[in-house]
Amino acid sequence: MEIPKKTNARGVGFGLGRLGLPVLKKTHISILLTVTTVFLMACRQGGKDSQSLADKVYGFEWETGDALLDAVMWDEEDWISIKDPSIVQHEGKWHLFCTLRGKERSHAVVYSSFDDLGQMGKSKPLVMGHHDGYYCAPQVFYYTPQKKWYMVCQAKSNDWSPNYQAAYSTTTDITDPDSWSALQPMQIAKPKDDPYLDFWVICDEDKAYTFFTCDNGKMYRTETTFEAFPLGWSKPVLAFEGDIFEASHIYKLPEQDKYINLIEAQLPDDRRFFKAYLANSLDGEWLPAPSDSIGTYASAANVIQVNGAWTNSISHGELVRDGFDEKMEAHLDSPFVYQGVLHRNREGKQYGDIPWRLGLLKKKGTEKVGDENKELPLFTSAPFPVGTSIRQDMLRNDTVMDIAGYEFNSLTAGNAMKMHRVLGEGFTYNFGEADEYLAYAKAQGMRMFGHTLIWHTGTPDIVKQLKGDSMALHNFTKKYIDTLVSRYRGRIDAWDVVNEPVLDGSGELRENTWLATLGQDYVEEVFRMAHNADPTAKLFLNDYNIERDSAKLDGFLRLVERLKKKGTPIHGIGMQMHIRMDTPNEVIARNLKRCVDTGLLIHFSEVDIIFNKHDDTKGGGIQKYTSLTPEMMGQQAEKYKQIAQLYNAIVPNDQKYGITLWGFADRYTWIRYFFEIMDWPLIFDDNLVKKPAYYGLREGLLLGN
Ligand code: XIL
Repeated sequence: MEIPKKTNARGVGFGLGRLGLPVLKKTHISILLTVTTVFLMACRQGGKDSQSLADKVYGFEWETGDALLDAVMWDEEDWISIKDPSIVQHEGKWHLFCTLRGKERSHAVVYSSFDDLGQMGKSKPLVMGHHDGYYCAPQVFYYTPQKKWYMVCQAKSNDWSPNYQAAYSTTTDITDPDSWSALQPMQIAKPKDDPYLDFWVICDEDKAYTFFTCDNGKMYRTETTFEAFPLGWSKPVLAFEGDIFEASHIYKLPEQDKYINLIEAQLPDDRRFFKAYLANSLDGEWLPAPSDSIGTYASAANVIQVNGAWTNSISHGELVRDGFDEKMEAHLDSPFVYQGVLHRNREGKQYGDIPWRLGLLKKKGTEKVGDENKELPLFTSAPFPVGTSIRQDMLRNDTVMDIAGYEFNSLTAGNAMKMHRVLGEGFTYNFGEADEYLAYAKAQGMRMFGHTLIWHTGTPDIVKQLKGDSMALHNFTKKYIDTLVSRYRGRIDAWDVVNEPVLDGSGELRENTWLATLGQDYVEEVFRMAHNADPTAKLFLNDYNIERDSAKLDGFLRLVERLKKKGTPIHGIGMQMHIRMDTPNEVIARNLKRCVDTGLLIHFSEVDIIFNKHDDTKGGGIQKYTSLTPEMMGQQAEKYKQIAQLYNAIVPNDQKYGITLWGFADRYTWIRYFFEIMDWPLIFDDNLVKKPAYYGLREGLLLGN
């Protein structure tokens, strides 16, 4: 059982620094904006398209038990991994062929057989003897026209020209691993400028086809006649190009009279997942499976690991077929055999040293799942921390706190660290509440975020009374920041030093006790005070509407530049992101990019998404929608997905501080009492049940690029 541990916030298994992700380029942003626009259009079209996410959420949903087959099970010192499964069932027995990665011989093919899929790892696989050089990624099927079993794979031999190519071997007895013929080349021409690997044969009524991928987004197709098979291949043609990687495995779905193409794709940090495409014929156009706009078939985001998490990748796999012949027939509910590994178990390793293990995906609900929380935590979908704020009343509810501790790995106190809560009568200090948050975060291995030191709202009267007395206000502020920040030195990762410093619309500095008394340099002064109190804490300037109010953002960025120019210790920008369903993604993307250009860390610090309107004053809400329909839930899921995708794509990895939700359940949203409207802005509902928005966010976190 390996649930990803949240040992400490900065060193989380999925923490930023450990990933070494490539920095995203402008081209990614323009691709993203195009994608975003398409999504946006889909949302605007309403019902049908937004319903598709809900379909996806409840469509391609899987569960998996423990890893079933692991190379280290047999104490073979030389074995590293068993991967690339190809499986057929024949006369009541399962026959499994896989790549064996070893230390002495890098690649070989192994065979095992068993009566029951769940026994996949019970008997030791045998190393096959029909080739002594490099060969791997087998595909095994029965070729009816010749009444023979075929193994197709990629292989090398000095006797062939070229040495490396697709190859085949045959037998009439699949139960006898010694009966296979010596590997022979298939003489499929290599496309001039592309590598080729993962060869896959499938036949329709008229012809035999081989497909292969190139690790560069391309998939090729070549064909031959039944008579000439396994030779006589036509010049390969490009069959598909997109954001795919390798292992394109194609099956006939007789019920739908379509072909499904399950292709492996990879995230920038190398986590693998499968996309699904459909075509009406083998030489037809491949389109994303309709139940999912981006073609996701199986990824860490839609797989529940019922016996604990042992993989973040769903990699090279085979759909369990209905038959065993060249037609490759299967149906969508079939299990899927795949290779997986935990991200942290592969970090820093050469591909050949990764300890891939085999597992079995089954359609959700097939295995007995006792506990919904067995689904992987939300934060594991993101290569950066995912947080929530928690209000005092939530802290008192065990169910709420169990969910928060499970799903998130960053924590913000909703109010407990604000001045009006910390400061008591006669300038005394109350740390009780704040301490409770710290204790909880520590117990849960969550990063603690400090919110907030200076804020015009919630300034206690005793502090307001210092207005005009610059010495007294300066001394008080220094003492306050010193006391609070140094108390939590090394335990609070970062602080919102000044919250909401600029005015809506104009971007001028907002009037508050400090501006009135210390002048506009007060911002710089308080940053320096915070830095002195904890030189290790990251210091943020946080504000709302800067994602959509460009004039406000102008002023905000002027302030940031002024601070930077003066050498002020500022490390990050907090974009609160209290947005609405109709806040345009294009505007958010543009303004986010401007924040990114400062080079500072970017925190989406208080995300929630409402359907109604607010005007940012207390009580200032306009109620347009009085109830939440399934269609609205689908649209909100898309919006959450898009927001996470924007963040993923536009913020370079070394500037991603994280995404924090302002509370996570509608039951506790501040929107309802602050703006005095009914709304449903979060990812869990009033009964603490996951909404489609949860899955939308999850998908956006995972598939951001
Ligand atoms: C809100 C809290 O959620 C409420 O409980 C409180 O009554 C008012 O403040 N921007 C911020 C947060 O920076 O501190 C605010 O939190 C929401 C808007």
